[in-house]
Amino acid sequence: MINARHFPLLSFALLLLSLRLSLATSPPQQDPETPVARFQKYLRFNTAHPNPNYTAPVSFLTSLATSLGLKTQTLEFIPNKPTLLITWQGSNPSLHSLLFNSHLDSVPAEPSKWTHPPFSATLTPEGKIFARGAQDDKCIAIQYLEAIRNLKARNFVPTRTLHISFVPDEEIGGIDGSDKFVKSKEFKDLDVGFVLDEGQASVNDEFRVFYADRSPWNLIIKAKGVPGHGSRMYDNGAMENLMDSIEVINRFRDSQFDIVKAGKASNSEVISVNPVFLKAGIPSPTGFVMNMQPSEAEAGFDLRLPPTADPDLVKKRIAEEWAPAVRNMTYEIIEKGPLRDYMGRPLMTATDDSNPWWSVFKQAIAAAGGKLAKPEILSSTTDARFMRQLGIPAFGFSPMTNTPILLHDHNEFLKDTIFLKGIEVYEHIIHALSSFEEANSI
Ligand SMILES: *[C@@H]1O[C@H](CO)[C@@H](O)[C@H](O)[C@H]1NC(C)=O
Ligand SMILES: *[C@@H]1O[C@H](CO)[C@@H](O)[C@H](O)[C@H]1NC(C)=O
Ligand SMILES: [Zn+2]
Repeated sequence: MINARHFPLLSFALLLLSLRLSLATSPPQQDPETPVARFQKYLRFNTAHPNPNYTAPVSFLTSLATSLGLKTQTLEFIPNKPTLLITWQGSNPSLHSLLFNSHLDSVPAEPSKWTHPPFSATLTPEGKIFARGAQDDKCIAIQYLEAIRNLKARNFVPTRTLHISFVPDEEIGGIDGSDKFVKSKEFKDLDVGFVLDEGQASVNDEFRVFYADRSPWNLIIKAKGVPGHGSRMYDNGAMENLMDSIEVINRFRDSQFDIVKAGKASNSEVISVNPVFLKAGIPSPTGFVMNMQPSEAEAGFDLRLPPTADPDLVKKRIAEEWAPAVRNMTYEIIEKGPLRDYMGRPLMTATDDSNPWWSVFKQAIAAAGGKLAKPEILSSTTDARFMRQLGIPAFGFSPMTNTPILLHDHNEFLKDTIFLKGIEVYEHIIHALSSFEEANSI
């Protein structure tokens, strides 16, 4: 038997070996001072609806910005709904500024449907970061700041001032968020000339860019009609009136969907109309009264209008065909945002030579070694519509290539390598846009 007391060197070596073994078996310690760690930290703030608490994430972002030597300002147009504004002062304040936007909130998550808790920001061995908001849109919030960090480290000084806004409530329509912000004196004082807002992931190696959003309308149609015994066949009952309308609306839906199916337009370029609720019947303790035809019935639809649609024509169609007064129908349209800018022009940003920002943006993507897909209309809606309404050019862009589109889905994730590449892309974008001087007059 070998006594360790007689072999002090051997026992020291054994001690080292056991230390190494225990280090290898305990979970790897993550350095908190990396871009990915800061991203995870931001993802761990639960800002999901219906009760997002913006206090902690705003103070986190404020201290991050302060540590980079950036100016911060918290605006509160509605109590407990802060807009955080971060500014990197340019050397020529007479030029219009740039605004990069990102929303603080997220949609809810159902934890039981997730492989990792949605606010854990778990980093898997393959580099996937799982969290609600990983794609929509907490990635860009941190990427903006990390890009500034890297540019500052290289002593880059912007010519144009760059502002970053972190706004509340985008996911519930932005009425208490961006809508209030763009209408404020503080926004006017920023003298914004160009906006970048969130986009969407791309499943291939081309970056996607969005020049317009579709505008959502909530449509509720109501039918009135003659009530009667469930056994009688007669004309003009409320249910019959409503179902006639649903048939007409469905034919219109098919006509739009056929255009998509034939490959003549993408989903976001047509008017979509989808039924979302039906309400009718006379309640009874066991369900509904079955032998009575009700005198009222209603249905709700989610409509999305691309900027190319004529809203007056759609309203005429609703009034004359979908809910005609001659069939005892009434309707209500709730428009969830503007469709035209302050000059009456469709809400879209030009992606040709008429827009000098477009070529600068395109060149920046190329300089970052990226490819840009054909510019698209976004199927859904973002805060960019509020800026476009003021006539300010705005693109939707989130630098995520080769990534499944998981916004609002279970198991939303972003790969660390894609996140880090995005920082580099923003370095090129900020460098190019903030050095661009020709567009002073627009
Ligand atoms: C929001 O969170 C902060 C701490 O981060 C807490 O002090 C505050 O009470 C919370 N607000 C609400 C309305 O829950
Ligand atoms: C409209 O409602 C009135 C009153 O209930 C009814 O007499 C008439 O037949 C209805 N017309 C249609 C087209 O439903
Ligand atoms: Zn979003």
